[in-house]
Amino acid sequence: MMAKSDNNRGYLNKDLSDKTVVFTGGTDGMGKAAVEKLAAKGATIMLLGRSKEKTIAVVNELNNIAGKENATYVPCNLASQQSIRNAATIILAQCPQIDILINCAGINAGARKITEDKMEMSWAVNHLAPFLLNHLLLDRLKKSAPARIINLSSATEKYGNISLDDIQLVKNWSTFRSYTQAKLVMNMCTRKMAKELVGTGVTVNALNPGFIKTNLLRDLKGWESIIGIPYMLLCASKPEVGGDRILRMALSDEYEDISGQYIYEDTIRAPNPKALDEQLVDKVWEISKNHVGIR
Ligand SMILES: NC(=O)c1ccc[n+]([C@@H]2O[C@H](COP(=O)([O-])OP(=O)(O)OC[C@H]3O[C@@H](n4cnc5c(N)ncnc54)[C@H](OP(=O)(O)O)[C@@H]3O)[C@@H](O)[C@H]2O)c1
Repeated sequence: MMAKSDNNRGYLNKDLSDKTVVFTGGTDGMGKAAVEKLAAKGATIMLLGRSKEKTIAVVNELNNIAGKENATYVPCNLASQQSIRNAATIILAQCPQIDILINCAGINAGARKITEDKMEMSWAVNHLAPFLLNHLLLDRLKKSAPARIINLSSATEKYGNISLDDIQLVKNWSTFRSYTQAKLVMNMCTRKMAKELVGTGVTVNALNPGFIKTNLLRDLKGWESIIGIPYMLLCASKPEVGGDRILRMALSDEYEDISGQYIYEDTIRAPNPKALDEQLVDKVWEISKNHVGIR
């Protein structure tokens, strides 16, 4: 299924000087490519980053591109729910309006690690973090409608399985299992959230940006790193390709009325059939709410 076509790619010429964008994962990879273009179009950008030095350096770059102090550093380690809550407090205090929320940050964890909230790291950063941030900023997005949320998923969601009795993969952890489960659950919760947002003017979609040459595989170990990194270097597209897909979803009129969908590069696609199983979706939604302490 194709989205409404936008042949002249008019979104590339949009002036964003009255728009505020909240962006995670804009300090590297395709997120950085996207956020640079948003800055060039005049958007006010709240850039969440875990490294103060690296994020401030990107904020300075964005402000140079814009020729104005439009970008702001928001300290946020997405592996910590307290840090996400603190970041949301800063954003809500500084932004009367939020037009676009882009959850681009993600990891390929090289080993099973546990966060300070006692969550498995890949589950925490790839799924719980955007799930929590979306909920914390939701009222402000509704007040700012029309508004859009974009969750960065992955083509690998189709290999995802849900271990309902062991969602943190205590027994059978691997990089692949943890990543694909988190990205599948992200797609499931995107669909569920879209249903709850019907009539609010806020849309939420999941995007597989394609196979893109970035730092995503930096934590891999052993054969996964020996095979994965050279394969990415040889076969993946440059970061700007992923960045442009993010931009298109964020800005193009063709996505104006589209919500709850899985966008595979530039096309709406059916997700993993498990994402269409409403009972299963309800279960992972409840687990996610419990894990981030949302009633
Ligand atoms: N590359 C691909 O082929 C591909 C394919 C499908 C989906 N994706 C998804 O696309 C998104 C962007 O990934 P990428 O490929 O551009 O990877 P990347 O180059 O590794 O960038 C990842 C971004 O996430 C940030 N991040 C990671 N952990 C964080 C944490 N705990 N707190 C705050 N920020 C954190 C990183 O911050 P630092 O700068 O501090 O490291 C960086 O800005 C991810 O969600 C990924 O799963 C990628």
